[in-house]
Amino acid sequence: MPTIRLLAASLLLLTASLVAQSPAPPVPPPWAFTVNTPPPPAPNGAPAAAPATPPAPDTTPRRVPDSDRAFTLAETRDAFNPPDWHPSGHPPMPASVSSGRKPEMRACGFCHLTNGQGRPENASLAGLPAAYIIQQMADFKSGARKSSEPKMGPPNAMIADAKAATDEEVREAAEYFASFPFRKWIRVVETAEVSRTRVAGWMHVPQAGTEPLGRRIIEMPEDLPRTELRDGASGFIAHVPVGSIKAGEALVTTGNGRTQACGVCHGADLKGLGPVPPLAGRSPSYTVRQLFDFQQGNRRGPWAPLMKAAVEKLTIDDLIAIAAYTASREP
Ligand code: HEC
Ligand code: HEC
Repeated sequence: MPTIRLLAASLLLLTASLVAQSPAPPVPPPWAFTVNTPPPPAPNGAPAAAPATPPAPDTTPRRVPDSDRAFTLAETRDAFNPPDWHPSGHPPMPASVSSGRKPEMRACGFCHLTNGQGRPENASLAGLPAAYIIQQMADFKSGARKSSEPKMGPPNAMIADAKAATDEEVREAAEYFASFPFRKWIRVVETAEVSRTRVAGWMHVPQAGTEPLGRRIIEMPEDLPRTELRDGASGFIAHVPVGSIKAGEALVTTGNGRTQACGVCHGADLKGLGPVPPLAGRSPSYTVRQLFDFQQGNRRGPWAPLMKAAVEKLTIDDLIAIAAYTASREP
């Protein structure tokens, strides 16, 4: 008996040391890989009663500043004809961007906005090189590019769109978004305190009260009602830890012994170089997700090996610092 117990004990020790040697892959930072906050449970656990008669559709015309157009709420949520509030602010759109194709290919302009400025839960496409856009669509389609957080809806929806799009639709969308520049869109603010938020519509939405920011980046709309109406002229504010921009500058410009100087490939001003995408001024939540995805092997398209040495040794704090710095640069 004692021998068996001894054996069991040493087996336990062996398993423990094996577990210690292979650390679990890091958890995708939930502030960057946003998943909707579940609604609070109903009192007594009872499901909320359905109203006897469904409310009449809300047909109130909605408006945003500097636009003479009006859309109902339902119209602003139409994935096959998203609202184009400022049509003079971009060239004429190809069908893939303005209306997509029913039933399965939602319009690119629905999520990325018709002017390609994008939102934190997706990506800015304005000003990306066409060859780069085409390669990413191929990677989403082939399965070489996916999110480290499978519960995050928008990247999965992106993959479905890429699978549905024809080569011709991809080409015309790529040429469209590459034909005009990305405009400054995100105000980066270093702070120790941030508004409390919940995640709704895959986005951080401010709540009453504040809390310590800690080691996170919290990006939220400058004007929630305008963002909810998909106004491509109302941007975002990114709250980043105090000191992170400076720390990021050191990593990005010199590598600081932990990574490579990014400008070699992304351009000295981080505005892109040939087919290599720009980083300047883009969403820091998006940037953190991409660096994490490269690190975890979830972005492994044919161009991804070029990013391997850059991300290998980076900690979450490094990702925060790098993204705070790149987002703070002029696009
Ligand atoms: C349902 C929303 C949705 C639609 C519609 C959509 N996308 Fe996306 N797209 C996303 C999301 C979300 C991401 C970012 C995924 C991530 O964070 O990893 C993305 C990322 C991308 C990227 C990668 C950008 C980069 O810098 O690497 C490209 C390119 C892209 N989309 C092109 C398109 C095109 C072209 C269309 C139309 C044919 C389209 N998307 C339609 C949600 C969407
Ligand atoms: C040796 C060249 C090279 C270096 C150095 C490099 N990158 Fe990249 N980077 C690339 C290429 C190529 C891609 C596109 C990869 C792909 O398509 O999968 C890329 C993609 C990215 C993306 C995704 C952009 C998007 O639109 O989705 C981010 C973010 C990024 N790099 C950040 C950095 C940072 C930060 C550094 C420095 C710490 C860096 N890179 C250094 C070549 C490089």
